[in-house]
Amino acid sequence: IFHRPWIFIRGVPAMKFLPPEGPPEIAFAGRSNVGKSSLINALVGQNGLARTSNTPGRTQELNYFVPDGYSGAADDLPPCALVDMPGYGYAEAPKAQVDAWTALVFDYLRGRSTLKRVYVLIDSRHGIKKNDEDVLKLLDKAAVSYQIVLTKADKIKPPALEKLKVETLAKIAKHPAAYPELLATSSEKSEGIDTMREAISKAVNT
Ligand code: GTP
Ligand code: MG
Repeated sequence: IFHRPWIFIRGVPAMKFLPPEGPPEIAFAGRSNVGKSSLINALVGQNGLARTSNTPGRTQELNYFVPDGYSGAADDLPPCALVDMPGYGYAEAPKAQVDAWTALVFDYLRGRSTLKRVYVLIDSRHGIKKNDEDVLKLLDKAAVSYQIVLTKADKIKPPALEKLKVETLAKIAKHPAAYPELLATSSEKSEGIDTMREAISKAVNT
């Protein structure tokens, strides 16, 4: 799937606009600015496919990306979709807007039967915060399989990253739906990207 170009197919501003359930969906969740959209671009090798920004709150809808070359007809569906999501924990936008994004993300994570795997992104400099914990608990409760990705690994020194990995593994040991291994990535330096591509391909095919 990562050998061909990917395209944006749809932005979903509210649950009622979700496409009919079809191919397995792989979602990217995390606090605002953690690097969700950048990671999608790094995985597909196309800068600018997902829109990124220095300013938290860039992604405001559930954005669907699929490998190109499928008509979308019932007998010609793409093998999977990557779903970029608004971040949670963004305090600067109007509260009503933040609440709407958070509700959309939570409703989607809780209630999408074709959701195959969620990558929960955690900034390597910050570790798991309270609102991340809330998302992990929701996924446990909904029995949605997820894996933690430590992002922006280029921003901290290797010993600090190792320490964070140990702490994070200890935290997720208490979470039944969490995959017991971490990924660590740098979209900037293209580190950990191949490993994550393999993980996604495996998730799609199981
Ligand atoms: P929202 O859509 O606002 O929730 O943000 P997001 O999680 O999609 O983050 P985005 O990909 O837009 O990246 C936020 C900022 O972090 C941008 O300025 C990126 O250039 C930067 N960034 C993302 N990934 C990395 C990385 O691996 N290393 C470094 N150094 N910076 C990164
Ligand atoms: Mg984004």
